[in-house]
Amino acid sequence: MLLLAAAFIVAFVLLLYMVSPLISPKPLALPGAHVVVTGGSSGIGKSIAIECYKQGAFITLVARDENKLLQAKKEIEKHSINDKQVVLCISVDVSQDYGQVENVIKQAQEKLGPVDMLVNCAGSSVSGKFEDLEINYFEVKPYNVYITIAYPPDTDTPGYAEENKTKPLETQLISESSSLCKPEQVAKQIVKDATQGNFNSSIGSDGYMLSSLTCGMSPVTSITEGLQQIVTMGLFRTIALFYLGSFDGIIRRCMIQRTKTKTVDKTA
Ligand SMILES: NC(=O)c1ccc[n+]([C@@H]2O[C@H](COP(=O)([O-])OP(=O)(O)OC[C@H]3O[C@@H](n4cnc5c(N)ncnc54)[C@H](OP(=O)(O)O)[C@@H]3O)[C@@H](O)[C@H]2O)c1
Repeated sequence: MLLLAAAFIVAFVLLLYMVSPLISPKPLALPGAHVVVTGGSSGIGKSIAIECYKQGAFITLVARDENKLLQAKKEIEKHSINDKQVVLCISVDVSQDYGQVENVIKQAQEKLGPVDMLVNCAGSSVSGKFEDLEINYFEVKPYNVYITIAYPPDTDTPGYAEENKTKPLETQLISESSSLCKPEQVAKQIVKDATQGNFNSSIGSDGYMLSSLTCGMSPVTSITEGLQQIVTMGLFRTIALFYLGSFDGIIRRCMIQRTKTKTVDKTA
């Protein structure tokens, strides 16, 4: 019996191994690829830019300080593997005007082609004591201040109706796989979770599954919650893979339908 179970597990693992290349994404070939690195003039971003450049990529560095950008460009260029490679520098504050950021990325695309890889590394973190920090950077837990992140499901609101007007068919069909909640029901749950100091607030079995699957390094409010996450993680991931398969199926069917309609329109 034990031998049979072991044989079954081995066969299952082998099957997964064989099927895996069919579902894995095609690796990105870095030679000739255009890599945009925000925060590429320093630290982790600069090292990522160097690593990609060493593998033949074209680089766009995005950061604020022009001098730092030029220094980084010189440093990266020492690692070229052919004389066609380019390092472009763009000085912009990514936390400000979105239109400006969009424009500079367009400029980069005009010069080096479509972006193949975007590395978002711009930013900084600030550490310090609660009372010494500005309001937007502070550690809250020791002061009995808790954060609740709510994941509301599709909820029947004016905003949702507005959203539906432009929702692609694929998203509509995926949304239909779960039921629409009432705003009062959602509000009740969020308030309950927030007042209990729960880090996650979700509704229904799908919501519970999603918040468990995405718990990562998030804090737990009770030992039971932690235990539930540990025990259910594998099972939920298995269920989630079936969901993903079904969503992919919806997207594929919509694409086939759209191609058919286009062909009929052309022949008419
Ligand atoms: N280092 C770590 O241990 C660590 C660990 C976990 C996470 N992180 C995060 O990883 C990211 C990079 O960290 P790092 O240590 O490599 O930092 P870093 O050496 O200070 O580099 C930060 C880069 O971001 C750019 N930048 C900052 N604010 C910007 C803005 N508003 N617009 C455009 N560019 C901006 C900086 O250039 P300019 O100042 O010239 O704009 C610089 O190129 C940060 O978000 C950090 O919080 C770091």
